[in-house]
Amino acid sequence: MDSFGIGIESSCDETSVAIVKEGRELLSLKIYSQIESHAPYRGVVPELASRSHLEKINLLLEECLEEANVSWEQIKYVAVSAYPGLMGSLMIGAQLARCISLVHSLPIVLVNHLEAHLAVVGLEEELPEFPVLGVLLSGGNSSVYLYHDFGKMELIGDTMDDSLGEAFDKVSSLLDLPYPGGPPVEKEAVLYESKSVGKLPSLFPKLLKESGEEIQFSFSGLKTAVLYHVKSQTKESLDVGRVCSDFQKTAFELVIRNIRKAVKKTGIRTVICAGGVLANGSLRNELELESKRQKWKLFYPRKKIHCTDNGAMVASLGYHLWKKGYNAPLNFKVSPKRNLTNTI
Ligand code: KG4
Repeated sequence: MDSFGIGIESSCDETSVAIVKEGRELLSLKIYSQIESHAPYRGVVPELASRSHLEKINLLLEECLEEANVSWEQIKYVAVSAYPGLMGSLMIGAQLARCISLVHSLPIVLVNHLEAHLAVVGLEEELPEFPVLGVLLSGGNSSVYLYHDFGKMELIGDTMDDSLGEAFDKVSSLLDLPYPGGPPVEKEAVLYESKSVGKLPSLFPKLLKESGEEIQFSFSGLKTAVLYHVKSQTKESLDVGRVCSDFQKTAFELVIRNIRKAVKKTGIRTVICAGGVLANGSLRNELELESKRQKWKLFYPRKKIHCTDNGAMVASLGYHLWKKGYNAPLNFKVSPKRNLTNTI
């Protein structure tokens, strides 16, 4: 008999519920994005986020159940993002998982939200064999993991300051573009690149030139370089498209360089890239080109909806953990920390 599972995601500014079959087939996915509530503040306001999760989450569950057309008897587990994330927000999803578990006698599977971002590719294609390299580029993380198995990730590279998504958001703000910054910065860059003839030198220097074999990210220097450049220009002389294009290229060069280093250090040639920034077409192209050149097996969520926070990734990873026997007690705790070993 097929096993169905529910995934609940409320770690940050998306409320989402999904139902999957056998961890692979998505039957329903509902996402409520809070972007409009946070946009005036150009960042996520935790209090607003948890209130909004509370308002929406039950409704999304009802809609999901109706669309998937499955009975409670067919559902075998409820998976929930338990860390890392905003405490108040995580608690809303956790409480829903507890209610479902109590009422329908279902095991609760706690999911590492970051791991779920990587495992989501399993909804689109056969997951590669472990171990793999996991590269997470989102609003909160720029990190490289040695992904040993479901529930077992080892951090091997991290950012020293801002995440890549955060850098996009800040650069967008410096250029008076909307929040979140990724999509408008990408749009300006693409427009500029489609019109520009000849190659001008980059406005920004290569990042972390002296980092040797270390797998490290740092984007605060680039953000400051954008700030100084913007300040040095008049409204008329500022070429927003060129700034966006050079900013992206400079940042993505560091991403590719770090993956090269991780492959060299571990000998692992299978790479899963994931997180909100993977929605960026230029980054996808750069990764595709480099993986062909270096003969890496590259995986990333082809569907842009799978790049952002969503319940489908939680339900899908939850299936594999449930199969391994993960089952959390009702009084489980959520955490803002990036605990990297899921033990229950
Ligand atoms: O993974 P994600 O949805 O959630 C959090 O980490 O909270 O990532 C959100 C981040 C934002 O910083 C956003 O600006 C960035 O992903 N992002 C992008 C693009 N779309 C979203 N960055 C670059 N290019 C994009 N097209």
